[in-house]
Amino acid sequence: MSTGRLTARASGSLNGRVRAPGDKSISHRSLILGGVARGTTTISGLLEGADVLATAAAMRALGATVQRGDDGVWTVTGVPHLTSAAIDCGNSGTGARLLMGIVAGHDIRVTIDGDASLRTRPMARVTGPLGEMGARFEGDRLPMTVQGGSLRAIGYRLPVASAQVKSAILLAGLRAAGLTEVIEPEPTRDHTERMLRAFGVEVAVTDAADGRHVRLMGGQDLTGTTITVPGDPSSAAFPLVAALITPGSEVTVEGVLLNPLRTGLFETLVEMGADLKVINAREISGEPVGDLVARHSRLRGVSVPADRAPSMIDEYPILAMAAAFAEGDTHMDGLAELRVKESDRIALTARGLEACGVTVDERPDGMTVHGLGRAPAGGGLVHTHGDHRIAMAHLVLGLASTAPVTVDEPDMIATSFPGFVSLMASLGAAVTDA
Ligand code: S3P
Repeated sequence: MSTGRLTARASGSLNGRVRAPGDKSISHRSLILGGVARGTTTISGLLEGADVLATAAAMRALGATVQRGDDGVWTVTGVPHLTSAAIDCGNSGTGARLLMGIVAGHDIRVTIDGDASLRTRPMARVTGPLGEMGARFEGDRLPMTVQGGSLRAIGYRLPVASAQVKSAILLAGLRAAGLTEVIEPEPTRDHTERMLRAFGVEVAVTDAADGRHVRLMGGQDLTGTTITVPGDPSSAAFPLVAALITPGSEVTVEGVLLNPLRTGLFETLVEMGADLKVINAREISGEPVGDLVARHSRLRGVSVPADRAPSMIDEYPILAMAAAFAEGDTHMDGLAELRVKESDRIALTARGLEACGVTVDERPDGMTVHGLGRAPAGGGLVHTHGDHRIAMAHLVLGLASTAPVTVDEPDMIATSFPGFVSLMASLGAAVTDA
């Protein structure tokens, strides 16, 4: 990690067509499922960010064959029995939690570690239910050791809306005796369920009064498949919001995943008055995909319903930047989870906006951004605490604020969006070493 900085400054309109990097959630899952499937899985469009590369290395250490072809297509040859290993998930909560789920059902001992941020993040939400299934854990924060083995299926109601927790339980359930059931009061991203089906696993999903029930029988085999990873809506959000707030802009992001459990930000931006349209809607690898066109817009503040949070959980920092330009207040609630992401994203978003002349009311589980109805002053030095999304969100702010905005620890952007600076530059954005 460098101690460098990046600065974004206003430099006229943003224009052009780009392709967002591959979806992070789908990329992790394709490597993990491919690694335990019979035969070979080929993956096109894999996100080659540091988080996903850490999962690729982890699956290799656990015994799968994971290779990148010169054409950028990855092949994974699975193994029926994973082997004991020490793995390092870097900055990735998704990698760590999903891998705990997959190793729990194998009679192996695995040590899992991560970077300073990941070591602070809560793991009991996963070790609790996996422990009930029969896995043993030493420690409740990373680094920790998992002793997997014979598991029994459980029925588990998620206490927090988390696709990572749901996925860890379902992955463990693949090798548990009996029917594993996860009940989610609020539906969360369903890429694990969709992808398990693509690997030949039967997964039942039903909606009931108490929430969504996801069930799978243990003992099912996975068969290697072909996956095309669509563009990540959480990454597409940055150039799209940049276009919405920068006068004269029109930007198209091609091939963006439009799974309805991921599109809460786009819905919210349209409610704010954004000129944001989907064209060329299609389906890729069982997921809805489209091209998104954003044009500079006058935005107005809105109240974002708390139950929309799971479908835009990683997008609140960039929404807050759009809200700073909007006329009137934007209220965001139901966000307690944002405090335990790669950083405390409520606090860092509030501090960053305040450093740039925007007033934010912070609550334990939410925030209100007092929109200015014009460009904020900018001029701040934003401390990102190594959080990629905090860095990118504030750089986008700097592209349309009066004075430049500087962020620290920009190398962390490569965890989810390698090539962010050059992609933004191709649209006309001025983001340079500070
Ligand atoms: C993810 C789920 C979300 C999200 C993360 C990716 C996933 O986390 O914030 O970036 O791939 O399942 P939670 O499930 O903890 O909300």
